[in-house]
Amino acid sequence: MEIKKAVIPVAGAGTRLLPVTKSQPKEMLPVGRKPVVQYVVEEAEAAGLKEVLFVTGRQKTSIADHFDRDVELIRRLTQSGKSEILEELVFEEMGLSYYYVRQSEPKGLANAVYHAKDFVGDENFVVALGDTIIKGKDGGELLQRMIKSHLKNKAACTIAVEEVPLEYIYRYGAVKPKGKVSEDFPIDDLVEKPMPQEAPSNLAIAARYVLSPVIFDCIKRTVPDEHGELWLTDSIRILLNQGLKVYCVKLKEDQSRYDIGNFESYFKAFVDFAIEDEKYGYTLRQHLYHTIGQITP
Ligand code: UTP
Repeated sequence: MEIKKAVIPVAGAGTRLLPVTKSQPKEMLPVGRKPVVQYVVEEAEAAGLKEVLFVTGRQKTSIADHFDRDVELIRRLTQSGKSEILEELVFEEMGLSYYYVRQSEPKGLANAVYHAKDFVGDENFVVALGDTIIKGKDGGELLQRMIKSHLKNKAACTIAVEEVPLEYIYRYGAVKPKGKVSEDFPIDDLVEKPMPQEAPSNLAIAARYVLSPVIFDCIKRTVPDEHGELWLTDSIRILLNQGLKVYCVKLKEDQSRYDIGNFESYFKAFVDFAIEDEKYGYTLRQHLYHTIGQITP
């Protein structure tokens, strides 16, 4: 059975990036020469997915504008002899079908995913967080590996995980492997933002999931936190409690996750992508080389 649908939640408030996100979505912030969410959509396309549902919210209309084919802009660039710039718009021709559903209030990731219920129907689907880039040699490799593992293991949920230094695990969700960690492996628990001494492992949940529609029942039964938000990790724990299989797939050494939800990781993401930019990376590398002597850690 093929998996062809991707759900990209982009309805979060982005409060950690204020004031930047006061009137614009964090998912549209540039990393190098592209907005974050464009990397996410390109990753889905590279993995062979065909249909994308954005779970959007207030102040997020620029995301829909970005993925619309802008015929007027194309005409203007062509007529004014600037057709070389059209190259920057090839992402508009990816051949994906885009759909939009609105989460009227950001009530947590699980609530955002629940909005995909009608779109998904009875099919397995991918969830890729719209504020996180997976960088690697082959753009669709991780999702392809996850989809393969999900179908092979008949899992209800397959989660991407990344090894992080144990002292930083409190920033992420962490999984508890059932036995030995291999290419893909089952887990028997997961916890959100554990303290290092209580963490079940240093394997951090990395913003990509493959889910079976059984998740919707679990989301319905998930208890909101004190702010009324539903956590996807809690819904996945309900899957585990029902005896359903949850597997993990580890990022490869050449793959890394950039969550741009806070300034520290956003700055790092921007610099890493900018210095590797084919066109402008060289000048930036020169600039950094000349200023680096003046920088103190
Ligand atoms: P985060 O939890 O990191 O985003 O969501 P946030 O709530 O916007 O962050 P802060 O804490 O206010 O700074 C990860 C992804 O899930 C989406 C976000 O848009 C982001 O892409 N999300 C989160 C939703 O779509 N809806 C939600 O209710 C929460």
